[in-house]
Amino acid sequence: MCGIFGYVGLRSATPVLLEGLRQLEYRGYDSAGIATLDGGLQVVRSVGKIAALERRLRDRPLDGSCGIAHTRWATHGAPTEANAHPHTDCRGEIAVIHNGIIENHAALRRELEARGHRFRSETDTEVLAHLIEESYEGDLEQAVERALGRVRGAFGIAVMRDGEPGRIVLARRGSPLVIGIGVNEHFAASDVTALVRHTRQVLHLEDDEIAVIEPGGFRIARLGDGAEIDREVETVDWEVGDVDRGGYPHYMLKEICEQPETIRNALRGRIVLDEGIPKLGGLEAVMDEIRRCRHVAIVSCGTSYYAGLVARYLFEEFTDLTVEVELASEFRYRRLNLTDGTMVLAISQSGETADTLAAVREAKRKGALCLGLVNAVGSTIARETHAGVYLHAGPEIGVASTKAFTSQVAILTLMAVLFGRHGRLSLHEGRRVLTELMRIPELLERLLERRDEIAALAQRYADCEHFLYIGRKFSYPIALEGALKIKEIAYVHAEGYAAGEMKHGPLALIDPSYTCVALCPAGDLQEKTLSNMQELKARGGRMIAVATEGDGAAAAIADDVVEVPATLECLSPLLEVVPLQLFAYELAVRKGRDVDKPRNLAKSVTVE
Ligand code: AGP
Repeated sequence: MCGIFGYVGLRSATPVLLEGLRQLEYRGYDSAGIATLDGGLQVVRSVGKIAALERRLRDRPLDGSCGIAHTRWATHGAPTEANAHPHTDCRGEIAVIHNGIIENHAALRRELEARGHRFRSETDTEVLAHLIEESYEGDLEQAVERALGRVRGAFGIAVMRDGEPGRIVLARRGSPLVIGIGVNEHFAASDVTALVRHTRQVLHLEDDEIAVIEPGGFRIARLGDGAEIDREVETVDWEVGDVDRGGYPHYMLKEICEQPETIRNALRGRIVLDEGIPKLGGLEAVMDEIRRCRHVAIVSCGTSYYAGLVARYLFEEFTDLTVEVELASEFRYRRLNLTDGTMVLAISQSGETADTLAAVREAKRKGALCLGLVNAVGSTIARETHAGVYLHAGPEIGVASTKAFTSQVAILTLMAVLFGRHGRLSLHEGRRVLTELMRIPELLERLLERRDEIAALAQRYADCEHFLYIGRKFSYPIALEGALKIKEIAYVHAEGYAAGEMKHGPLALIDPSYTCVALCPAGDLQEKTLSNMQELKARGGRMIAVATEGDGAAAAIADDVVEVPATLECLSPLLEVVPLQLFAYELAVRKGRDVDKPRNLAKSVTVE
């Protein structure tokens, strides 16, 4: 997932641009580059990490107070210096950085080459530089507008031209772009995380919009007809410190340990205990429509999908809604019978996941009420859904989602109780769930005090080849999430399964190379899970049980037991998931993995 950063103002651009790129590193990249305007266009690019670009810049410092910078996640063309952004036109007067994919780049390249343009890279992006070159008649913004009229696909771009100092042109279709507003200086970035060091006043570009930023101001217009747009400035509710590691070795560990606070933030001001009812301001305008709904379809990807699976049990527990949870990448291909009375709930930390956004757009096309549960304020899904709720979890930098997941589950619990209290859920029952939900942060703090125990467990199991995570009902999605964490940051094979599925096939897989992690909280389903554990223990390798504090049932079967505080069954996911997050983290660290930026993954998957 590429990163874009632009600066125009009174300061030297290079250090500001490099700092911006460092804030975008978590998105994953394989090369980087920078361009500044100072009596001419200067470009420096390098393969590898930003440190390599900094070394190049020490040999060849760039002056100028206007510049653009980019971290590239290769899509077209290998990660080489020639393919790194910025890309320039034939005369080296125009520089372009781009996030997205130009779908008709091959045809455009052939046309341009036939007209004499010389390409120096294999990328789709370079096509833009030559198109703008051809369209330029003295005004860069108009040239960009004309060039983009030829383009199909997704883009977030920043463009500069020699001869137009102090001007950066931005345009967006499908790939996020945010403008940061300073005093006599302005910024552009792929996401807010890179801006909060400089300003918390931001503007999000929407699809098919073009903008110009200069030291003294900015302008936004609609692509196509150039109609001026008066966009409301938003204030970011994150602090600079939120994007620092805060003394932790990794963002992921910081974010795991932040969860008591982030769940408090998720609940703050949203519970009216006397009436046993949550208060979700973002849904108030559509509550009448929600009341009339009989069905809810939850769409999301990855960890957010597992939050959706928890929500299915929550909504069925407290409401009469029929619930469908579907991977966004599958939802969009189904023959949607979104009858009147169906709401679609999109869950997305980034609010930019392409598959989830496409599912939302498809659902809106079919007339469904679309709600969003999003962390990134002002993100595309947040803006394109009819209503929604923000997580208020602060920026989640680690690619592996942790605090966003527990905030999602906490707010989904609020949603389920809210919808239930507009239906069959009694005041007493609502108050009982909400009272216990408000205890979760302190229970999590107790759990996190035993971090060293989990670290020791990871040491003992560091050599495992395969993991099998099992759980029932509320613990089943947590088994899936626990397995995903092992896969995505420790790069070890792990399967998550419904415990009741063992006899339907997976048991054949089990041999001593498998370590089983069984979620077996006290309750009326525990007995069944204990018998699954015995079946597995008889055939497999070692076994770890995640059990309720003081409940000794699992100790007779498991080699190791991780205890979590007792709570209501419907709230157990919020506690069970944390030891699994820590276990995966500690395992990955022991294996020397790049925990915050695991290989092949990006924090926000804005391409399909
Ligand atoms: C989870 O750890 C991964 N980072 C990934 O599965 C993520 O949950 C998924 O890509 C969805 O992202 P979103 O919540 O931003 O839409």
